Amino acid sequence: MKLDIDFALKKDIDDLVDIYGGSKTYQSLELTLCGPDKRLWRYLIARDYDGKLLGSCSINLRFANLGAIGLENLLVKEEFRRNGIGTGLVEAVEKFAKEAGAYRIWLWSTEDRKPALALYEKRGFCLEKRREKTEDNPNTLLYGMNFPCPSSERAY
Ligand SMILES: CC(C)(COP(=O)(O)OP(=O)(O)OC[C@H]1O[C@@H](n2cnc3c(N)ncnc32)[C@H](O)[C@@H]1OP(=O)(O)O)[C@@H](O)C(=O)NCCC(=O)NCCS
Repeated sequence: MKLDIDFALKKDIDDLVDIYGGSKTYQSLELTLCGPDKRLWRYLIARDYDGKLLGSCSINLRFANLGAIGLENLLVKEEFRRNGIGTGLVEAVEKFAKEAGAYRIWLWSTEDRKPALALYEKRGFCLEKRREKTEDNPNTLLYGMNFPCPSSERAY
């Protein structure tokens, strides 16, 4: 499938609400994309060449000054799965990280997300840590992809 993957802007918030099926509200996404912490987050949206929404993910830049970039909220609309869209989004995050001079991408996931874990492992992410599930945080698996990069080349 031909993909058009780009960074989400304020005008895309309704589309993000659509992709995340209401698990993220317009207000929370507006805060993330346009609020005081907007430097810390980016959302990527995948569409087909007709503009149809396919999926999204976010990039957490909270630890970007340490050269580490987080991949979060990866989601492909159910009817479009197994078409390479998840891979396309992860590749876009990898490209962003490399261009920014990061040395590492990290992500948290859970044991039950088998399709996601298969995708991450296929892309070369390695399981680095397991932790106990808590009420506040069900994410238990830390995955990382590390690449060499001199810190002097970081773009942020
Ligand atoms: C995980 C997810 C994003 C994958 O998106 P996708 O567009 O279907 O993924 P791709 O088509 O790029 O798949 C790439 C590879 O991942 C693996 N994979 C993907 N879905 C799989 C499945 N259901 N079962 C087994 N392996 C799977 C395969 O190796 C696949 O390659 P292949 O199709 O050549 O065999 C999608 O299933 C999804 O949105 N899941 C719900 C949300 C979620 O769990 N997010 C992760 C949060 S940590």
